[in-house]
Amino acid sequence: MIKGKLTDTHSRSYRGITPQIGNRVYIDASAVLVGDITLADDVSIWPLVAARGDVNTITIGARTNIQDGTVLHVTRKSSANPEGNLLAIGEDVTVGHKCMLHGCVLGDRILVGMGAIIMDGVIVEDDVFIGAGSLVPPNKILKSGYLYVGNPVKQARLLKGSEASFLKQSAINYVELKDEYIEHEQV
Ligand SMILES: CC(C)(COP(=O)(O)OP(=O)(O)OC[C@H]1O[C@@H](n2cnc3c(N)ncnc32)[C@H](O)[C@@H]1OP(=O)(O)O)[C@@H](O)C(=O)NCCC(=O)NCCS
Repeated sequence: MIKGKLTDTHSRSYRGITPQIGNRVYIDASAVLVGDITLADDVSIWPLVAARGDVNTITIGARTNIQDGTVLHVTRKSSANPEGNLLAIGEDVTVGHKCMLHGCVLGDRILVGMGAIIMDGVIVEDDVFIGAGSLVPPNKILKSGYLYVGNPVKQARLLKGSEASFLKQSAINYVELKDEYIEHEQV
């Protein structure tokens, strides 16, 4: 059980940079975080998440949850792509089970449905719902307030009021759940 810090088993320094962990962060013992990764307060990282901040940076905003089996990675700088593609995930974001987020930028209050793939250069604005199994192709911009589904992803419709409010509620639920894990989990 991890309470706001990492052990050597899943925190790995790369080129002298070690993941930076905020307060009350929960990280499952089976998750792996390598290199230039910053987790803000109350983030939760669930079983079998792999996050590799080696050739660029990964930042995860406050109260965001990254669910089981999700992979987070980035793209290196090159002459064709001088900044590469970092991965930035905003606040109160829910990333469902077994997603792949690669070199993209997500705003706040987003739900990434189970198994979704989000590719390099994508920008997801605040308050977006991405359906399970969606594929978001490189450099696409997902506009605030909409549901997107499909492979490749398409704008389906405006979010209903209940869906829009669930985006924040989902993050609250996961903050409460990780607090319960911090209190009750036994290793
Ligand atoms: C997209 C979603 C929000 C449902 O939206 P909805 O508007 O209520 O959709 P409905 O169930 O009424 O289905 C409407 C159509 O969309 C299709 N559809 C539903 N979910 C879909 C998805 N993820 N991808 C593609 N199509 C989908 C349905 O098959 C249906 O198609 P049809 O009209 O040809 O029959 C939901 O299916 C979803 O993907 N939720 C994500 C859940 C999740 O992963 N949570 C995170 C884990 S904690």
